[in-house]
Amino acid sequence: MQNKFCLTVFLFSISILSFGQNKESHLPDALTLNNGTKVTSVKQWNDRREELLQIFRTGMYGISPGQPKDMHFEVFDHDKNALGGKATRKQITVHIRENGKEAKFDILLYIPNKAKHPVPAIIGINFSGNHAINADPKIKLSESWVESSKNSPCTENGKATDACRGTNSSQWPIDSIIDAGFALATIYREEIASDRKEESFKTGVHTLYPELQNQEDNFSTVAAWAWGLSRGMDYLETDKDINSKKVAVFGFSRLGKAALWAGANDTRFAMVISNESGAGGAKLFHRGIGENIRRLNTVFPHWYAKSFRKYMDKDTLLPFDQHLVIDLIAPRPVYIASAEGDKNSDPEGEFASAVEADKVYRFLKTDGLPVKEIPELNKSVMGQIAYHIRTGGHDVTSFDWHQFLIFSNLHLQK
Ligand code: GCU
Repeated sequence: MQNKFCLTVFLFSISILSFGQNKESHLPDALTLNNGTKVTSVKQWNDRREELLQIFRTGMYGISPGQPKDMHFEVFDHDKNALGGKATRKQITVHIRENGKEAKFDILLYIPNKAKHPVPAIIGINFSGNHAINADPKIKLSESWVESSKNSPCTENGKATDACRGTNSSQWPIDSIIDAGFALATIYREEIASDRKEESFKTGVHTLYPELQNQEDNFSTVAAWAWGLSRGMDYLETDKDINSKKVAVFGFSRLGKAALWAGANDTRFAMVISNESGAGGAKLFHRGIGENIRRLNTVFPHWYAKSFRKYMDKDTLLPFDQHLVIDLIAPRPVYIASAEGDKNSDPEGEFASAVEADKVYRFLKTDGLPVKEIPELNKSVMGQIAYHIRTGGHDVTSFDWHQFLIFSNLHLQK
């Protein structure tokens, strides 16, 4: 009996030890091409980049359409005296026509009046509607379905009412962003593509490309959000008040997953900010900690392509992992932010991804991530890759934005 017990303890210790040893060494190497050749030149890295994009498109996010040919921007609001006079507010409807159908969504844009134009900008998708990011009564109420929040119930039959205005403003400190000299552009997730399981692929930009659903690598919802961000960039390129070469893409949580994929695909984004993007965002699946592939694919089956389902219960064996998504952003600056209480996102796994991505950032001759050990709580480290872990739970706080603005200032105000 005792022998049996000793043997079990022994085998258990071995398995823990080997997991500890293997967890990083099993990570697919960014700097080796599919045919086994080591990447030693920038040209080879560009080939490897294409391979990685292909791996993620077929195995995880699905195939996205190209830039639509038939698209126009309707600026339906232009007020130079917004936010007490410090900003100009514009609201723009993006109209896209494809296959005889039309889809549209609105961009809300605030531009600092005092800063020297054209100004750098931050673009991000929001969770609750453009009208929820600030109490400004001139923001159009979204006509799309809005989730009723337990903390601030404000909807009627799934539609926004005036009571929904500003309900999400704590996560969007517009005054600080404007005072730092950045424009802010935002789009409501539901207008690009619905996040409701039962409405998957039936709304927004998905209605334009039904043929992209009849395949294993279907145009997923995270990919649709990322694609919508690129259409936001298409508009920003036409706006003379915006320096489109200095646009950061930002996202929190599921929308952080989309921001990373947008930055990976679309090199026009000069910088990426991922706030607690967790599983399918910045964290490494190979650690087998936090939200796993099975949960992502069963609770949110629309977020990733059908092809991703074959990796359920194989997190530690996945032939790719999320450090490679960060590599696709290299050498552009990227900020990965975690929160101590957000265990689902595996903060250490988000940090480990940044450490791994550092290899490609250094290969591309940037200073990468300046540390190898996770920094102290509430202390940001900033190189070309930045990271912090703050106290508290899953949220976007003023501490987070304070760091993001310092980092944006370093990289986009030069
Ligand atoms: C859930 C989900 C996460 C996601 C988060 C969010 O918690 O499990 O993957 O990031 O929702 O988007 O708020």
